[in-house]
Amino acid sequence: MSAAPLDLPAAPAPAPAFVPYEERMRANVIKLWRRSFSNSVAAYERDIDAACRNHPEWFIVALAGGAVVGTCIGTSDQHRHWLYYLCVARHARRRRVATGLVRHLEGLMRAAGARQLGLHVVKHNRQALAFYRSLGYETEQISCLGKRL
Ligand SMILES: CC(C)(COP(=O)(O)OP(=O)(O)OC[C@H]1O[C@@H](n2cnc3c(N)ncnc32)[C@H](O)[C@@H]1OP(=O)(O)O)[C@@H](O)C(=O)NCCC(=O)NCCS
Repeated sequence: MSAAPLDLPAAPAPAPAFVPYEERMRANVIKLWRRSFSNSVAAYERDIDAACRNHPEWFIVALAGGAVVGTCIGTSDQHRHWLYYLCVARHARRRRVATGLVRHLEGLMRAAGARQLGLHVVKHNRQALAFYRSLGYETEQISCLGKRL
């Protein structure tokens, strides 16, 4: 049997679908978050439950070939809309999965009357800053202060 030619193009990655979170995805979402963030599993469980209670339609999962490859969660308070838990599995990065997640959430929020979407990024997270800037997000002229209680 002859070997496959080296210039054979790699199989294209399946285009992701952006779907609302479903309970059957919980274990895989938490697995992705454990690789992407540094919170506790208890915090992830709590935040999933809260997202499902408050705005389940804004808890968006990117599925590629049936696998969870990205997430983001939208929330709102009386003043503003917020974006949390944006991440993409390492093997699926730089293929516009996060772009699709954020655009999808923006569309849903705009349709619900939102006029502005905010988020927090730690200053040293250069890849996230570069990503958000690529979508038109700008650093606002406010200082965000905090204190551990
Ligand atoms: C930030 C993150 C969500 C980006 O996901 P992604 O699917 O790779 O992003 P996209 O493919 O949609 O990127 C769109 C554009 O953003 C910019 N960008 C994305 N990742 C970048 C990086 N690592 N370095 C520089 N620019 C980057 C580029 O302009 C990119 O366009 P290009 O690939 O044509 O150059 C992903 O790197 C991630 O999950 N990081 C870890 C979790 C995290 O930090 N989340 C944010 C918490 S606030």
